[in-house]
Amino acid sequence: MPSPPEIRILKSSQELFEAAAAEFVVQASEAVRAQGRFTVALSGGSTPKSLYRLLATTPSLPWDKICLFWGDERHVPPDHADSNYRMAHEVLLSKVPVRPEIIFRIHAEEKDAEAAAWQYEQTLKQFFHLSSGKFPRFDLILLGLGADGHTASLFPESSALNERHRLVVANWVEKFKTHRITFTFPVLNAAARVIFLASGPDKAPILHQVLEDSSAHLPSQQVRPNNGRLVWLVDSEAAGALSRRD
Ligand code: 6PG
Repeated sequence: MPSPPEIRILKSSQELFEAAAAEFVVQASEAVRAQGRFTVALSGGSTPKSLYRLLATTPSLPWDKICLFWGDERHVPPDHADSNYRMAHEVLLSKVPVRPEIIFRIHAEEKDAEAAAWQYEQTLKQFFHLSSGKFPRFDLILLGLGADGHTASLFPESSALNERHRLVVANWVEKFKTHRITFTFPVLNAAARVIFLASGPDKAPILHQVLEDSSAHLPSQQVRPNNGRLVWLVDSEAAGALSRRD
């Protein structure tokens, strides 16, 4: 039975990213102590950039044991301006001693988006030694919140919302007239810990809906880890429309 989400409202965006970095450090050290590695899926978009910048200067992270994945990717090559991989590489991976062999980016340069999704699914199955019908248990999955309530690339009214068996799919996003390659809800909900980051006044209306309007049926509301922790780290501006503000 999913446990209720933990909602932490931080006074400023700076405090929000410091709290997120502190969570990352704690989860990394606990996972490495317990399993010898830390498996984490990064999110894209603009919000996590400040977190990744902070992590790039955070001492004592065991980068040689941190296995990096992405929860979704735009259907573009890794050097494209819209690439989630490129963003993370520029502000974080190029600045810390990561081991290339445990950096698993989505090969979204593939012309056929479904082929890229299938390939990444095989990567997950091999890395986590999954038997048929099993889902990977990430130590941590980072997620953002779109103004329409999407997360990863699970957009409202898109086909991937109903996927119950696949791990990764190519999801057609009508409003962008393109595919996105994205984790499915079963993967998100199999994680040990999911952290949503939301910052700024633009996120206030949708955050209110997601956290306080159960009739909204938004994609982000389907993220409820089966046997894991769901944490919302938001700043006071993003929390501006919530009934509780502290
Ligand atoms: C992406 C993300 C997406 C993002 C939200 C919020 O590839 O864009 O994975 O889900 O988290 O769109 O984006 P911002 O942080 O830019 O508001």
